[in-house]
Amino acid sequence: MGRLDNKVAIITGGCGGIGQAAAAKFVLEGARVMLVDLDRTALEETVTKLGNDVASYCVADVTQTEDTEKYVAATVERFGRVDIYLANAGIEGEVSSIADYDEQVFDRVIAVNVKGVWLGIKHLFPVMAKSGGGSIVITSSTQGVRGSASLSAYNTSKHAVIGLMRSTALEGASSNIRVNTVNPSPVETRMMRSLEAGINPTDTQGTHDRIAASIPLQRYAEPEDIANIMLFLASDESAYMTGGVYMADGGTTA
Ligand SMILES: NC(=O)c1ccc[n+]([C@@H]2O[C@H](COP(=O)([O-])OP(=O)(O)OC[C@H]3O[C@@H](n4cnc5c(N)ncnc54)[C@H](O)[C@@H]3O)[C@@H](O)[C@H]2O)c1
Repeated sequence: MGRLDNKVAIITGGCGGIGQAAAAKFVLEGARVMLVDLDRTALEETVTKLGNDVASYCVADVTQTEDTEKYVAATVERFGRVDIYLANAGIEGEVSSIADYDEQVFDRVIAVNVKGVWLGIKHLFPVMAKSGGGSIVITSSTQGVRGSASLSAYNTSKHAVIGLMRSTALEGASSNIRVNTVNPSPVETRMMRSLEAGINPTDTQGTHDRIAASIPLQRYAEPEDIANIMLFLASDESAYMTGGVYMADGGTTA
């Protein structure tokens, strides 16, 4: 018996560090998964690793309505239903003061990290409601509950999805659609390599070690640490949990 037997999950950012870890865990627990991301080759490789019988992919930009319609339709066509939406695609933007922050980068961060999640919810709500409900898990961040200098667009976006989650949880309750956020502190993925380079391009390892030392558990999360809580929130084990913010942050916000 798997914890996600007979369930179908859409995972955006499905080729990224956290997305791949979640996909692997979901499949191991019996789910079939539709991975949504930008790069066809990376998607193909990930799906091959997971198994073509249980995984599929859709090349889509989550900021676009047509692409959103496309990945929802592709999932229903391939697997017949959608039970889980892991809204996980995200970008970090740049590391700079607000005065120097590029306006187009700000717009893109908000488009991917906020509008992309909203579009997915908008198009999946009717599909999930029709099949008796589901679980929406949104990847926010510790940056969704606290500030940090030089990451204004990212911080704004990760706070915004908590508001979106709360509205959606209230709208979804009568249709048995649960909605929660997972809020990681730094995770060992491409995104942190990019941020470390943005903070100090001449000493990325030193930056990594300094950040890790500031976390009470003294390390970054592994993608699997985050995937574990996503799995729990996606499964029926969390059937009474909706509207919640779940920190996976090594004690950072304690
Ligand atoms: N890595 C961390 O330290 C950390 C901490 C807290 C929260 N998060 C969040 O976790 C999520 C996953 O990040 P990750 O660490 O796996 O980083 P990642 O860069 O490895 O993965 C992000 C994925 O999203 C995809 N993506 C970006 N824009 C897209 C778009 N417009 N349409 C479709 N896909 C798009 C990327 O191609 C990439 O595969 C993000 O929302 C991120 O903000 C990460």
